[in-house]
Amino acid sequence: LTPGDLAGVRVVVSAGGTREPIDPVRFLGNRSSGRQGAALAAEAAARGAEVTLVSANISGEVLAEVRHPSIRVVSVGTAAELSEAMTHESSLADVVVMAAAVADYRPAAVSERKLTKEGGGIPAIELVENEDIVAALASQRRSGQLVVGFAAETPEDASELLARARRKQHRKRVDLLIVNEVGWERGFESPENAVHILGPNGADAGSASGSKRAVAAAIWDAIARAR
Ligand code: C5P
Repeated sequence: LTPGDLAGVRVVVSAGGTREPIDPVRFLGNRSSGRQGAALAAEAAARGAEVTLVSANISGEVLAEVRHPSIRVVSVGTAAELSEAMTHESSLADVVVMAAAVADYRPAAVSERKLTKEGGGIPAIELVENEDIVAALASQRRSGQLVVGFAAETPEDASELLARARRKQHRKRVDLLIVNEVGWERGFESPENAVHILGPNGADAGSASGSKRAVAAAIWDAIARAR
């Protein structure tokens, strides 16, 4: 596709991973570096899109790699902050890409003071469920808006991977689902990635592998075809 094929398209990409505080010094988090989402923002900007990157705890180093005049960065920490930012930023967007790794649960209460071992015993952290942000965005999408979700899976085999992904796509009502096979050594923190792409209604829209930027290019090709 041509470099300017996203000219004027308004894109919102979430990337990184949320952190749910336990106390002033601890959190529940995940291993997402934000590199794939940042590459999606960079690729969209290079093709002419107006991009808002909603960054959940992405390092300054990764953000510096994707600096571009057409990318505006909005920083958030928790899933609740991410939800609020996405709802606000996506109201005028043509394409919403939810690449951030969102905590499914958060501590029911955040301790005002650091938990200590002093009273003895092992603390139990009660969890409550976070809202499914992409499902909410998809259910409120404005007409013509495309919503893209991600799924990081650790499947037993390839057929289970896609079956589970199709159920997820249907449940969340997203137009496209980018399926990422991850494991202890794969996906996270790595400069490379490999994905399967499910198009509208679970149709196979191909796969891509290589640098995260190359994978981003293939994902935007699939999004452009679906628009
Ligand atoms: O269900 P699962 O976490 O595998 O779904 C992944 C997709 O859903 C990603 O697009 C992620 O950004 C999104 N998600 C969300 N809100 C959550 C959990 C996941 O938007 N609470």
